[in-house]
Amino acid sequence: MANSNTKPATGKLGIMIVGLGAVSTTFITGVLMTRKGLAKPVGSMTQYDKIRVGRGADKKYLHLKDIVSMPSLDDLVFAAWDVYPANAYESAINAEVLKEKDINPVKDELLAIKPMKAAFDHNYAKRLDGDNVKQCRDRWDMVEQIREDIRNFKKNTGVDRVVVLWAASTEIYVAPDMQYHGTLAALEQAMKDDKKDVIAPSMCYAYAALMEGAPFIMGAPNTTVDIPAMWELAEKTQLPIAGKDFKTGQTLVKSGFAPIIGTRMLGLSGWFSTNILGNRDGLVLDEPANFRTKEVSKLSTLETILKADVQPDLYTDYYHKVRINYYPPRNDNKEGWDNIDIFGWMGYPMQIKINFLCRDSILAAPLCLDLCLLIDLARRAGRFGIQRFLSFFLKSPMHDYTQGEEAVNNLYQQYTMLKNAVREMGGYEADEEID
Ligand SMILES: NC(=O)c1ccc[n+]([C@@H]2O[C@H](COP(=O)([O-])OP(=O)(O)OC[C@H]3O[C@@H](n4cnc5c(N)ncnc54)[C@H](O)[C@@H]3O)[C@@H](O)[C@H]2O)c1
Repeated sequence: MANSNTKPATGKLGIMIVGLGAVSTTFITGVLMTRKGLAKPVGSMTQYDKIRVGRGADKKYLHLKDIVSMPSLDDLVFAAWDVYPANAYESAINAEVLKEKDINPVKDELLAIKPMKAAFDHNYAKRLDGDNVKQCRDRWDMVEQIREDIRNFKKNTGVDRVVVLWAASTEIYVAPDMQYHGTLAALEQAMKDDKKDVIAPSMCYAYAALMEGAPFIMGAPNTTVDIPAMWELAEKTQLPIAGKDFKTGQTLVKSGFAPIIGTRMLGLSGWFSTNILGNRDGLVLDEPANFRTKEVSKLSTLETILKADVQPDLYTDYYHKVRINYYPPRNDNKEGWDNIDIFGWMGYPMQIKINFLCRDSILAAPLCLDLCLLIDLARRAGRFGIQRFLSFFLKSPMHDYTQGEEAVNNLYQQYTMLKNAVREMGGYEADEEID
C-alpha cells in the first residue's frame, strides 16, 4: 500500500439499517452467506473491482483492499429498525427474493436481528400499517430515541464505528423549504416545534446518526440529507453523507446508455421509461405522493447528460417520462421497458428499445455493501459533507444546488470520480489516464 493518511479499518463496523425489507434482508443474507463461503458477492465493486494505480511502468491493478485499508465482511455487525416486528429471517422469507436454500444456512444469525421500533409517521407512507413504532412526543423526542438506539447498539456490540443506511420505504415528497431546511438552527427549531409536515422521520434518523458520529446514506429518493441544514450538520460533525436513491436497474441503464447518444452526436426526441414491480416498495410507490419523490429522482438523470444548452439542435425539448406500475404477480422481479426516440443525419427518426428483466433487490444489495464500506472509508480518510465520488451508485446524486452546481449523472464520469477518490484515499495520485 502507498503512503496514505487514511486511518486503518480496525475493529468491527456496525451497519444500522432503517427498514428491514427486501433490499436489507437480501443484503444482510448475502453478506452472511459469503462469510460462510456459500455465496459470492457478485455486483460489488469493493469485493471485485481492480483499480489501476500508478502510471507507465509503475502501473498496477489492485483490489480496493490492497489500495486502502478496508474492513472484511467478517467485521460487519448488523442492526435494523422496522415498522413491522418480523425478524430478518422472517422478513427475508416474506420478501421472496431469495430461495430458502440460500437463507437457511444463516437462519440463526438472521433470527437474531430483530428490528428496533421504527421512528415512523403514517402520513409519510400511508400504505404501511405496522405497529412496531416508537411513541414520540414530537420530532425532537423522535431524534432522542433514535440516538439512544445508536448508543445502545454501540455499547452492546462493542463496534468500533457505525454507519446508518436508509433502505426503508420511500416517503412522500418533501420539497426543500429554506425556511425550515436552510440552516441547521432552523431545522432544529422545526424539530422542536414538531413541524411534522416539513420534518420527515428520515430526517430524524439522519440527524441522530450524525450527532452520534455515524455517516448517513440515503438509499431512497427522499430529500432527507439533500438540504443545506444537513450539509451544515455534516460539516459541523465532520462526517460524510451520501444520497440519494440506489441506482440499480433502469436508471443504471439510462446513465450508461445516454452517453452513447451524446458522444455519437445523435439527437433525442423522447425517452419513455416504464416498469412493473410487485413488492412492498412497489405498493408504497403506488401512492401518488410517494411516487412523486421517485419521479423527481428518476427524471433528473438525463438532463445533465444530454443538454440543450450545449447542443440545442440535438437536445431541445425532448420528452422524458418515467412510470412505475404496481403489479403484484412480479413481486421483486421488476421488468423495465425503455423506448428511446432518437434522430440522426438530416433529422431522420430511429428507435431503440431496451427490455430489462431484473431483480430489484439482487441489484440493490451490492450497492448497500459498497456504499457502507466506502462511506466508512471516507470517514476514516477525514472526508465530510456530500460525497460526490459515491454518485456512481446513486440515481439522483447530491450536489450543492444553492450554488448552481450540477450533479454528475454520466456513469463513466462517475466511475472516474470514484476511482480517483479511492486512489487519493490510498495515497496515490488522482489521474485521468485511460484504463
Ligand atoms: N431495490 C431497488 O432496486 C431500489 C432502487 C432504488 C431505491 N430503492 C429504495 O430502497 C428502499 C427499500 O426497498 P425495498 O424493496 O427493500 O422495500 P420494502 O418495502 O421491502 O422494505 C422497506 C421497509 O422499510 C420499512 N419502513 C418504512 N418506513 C420506515 C421507517 N420510518 N422506519 C423504519 N422502517 C421503515 C417498511 O416497513 C419496510 O419493511 C425503498 O425506498 C426503495 O424505493 C430500491
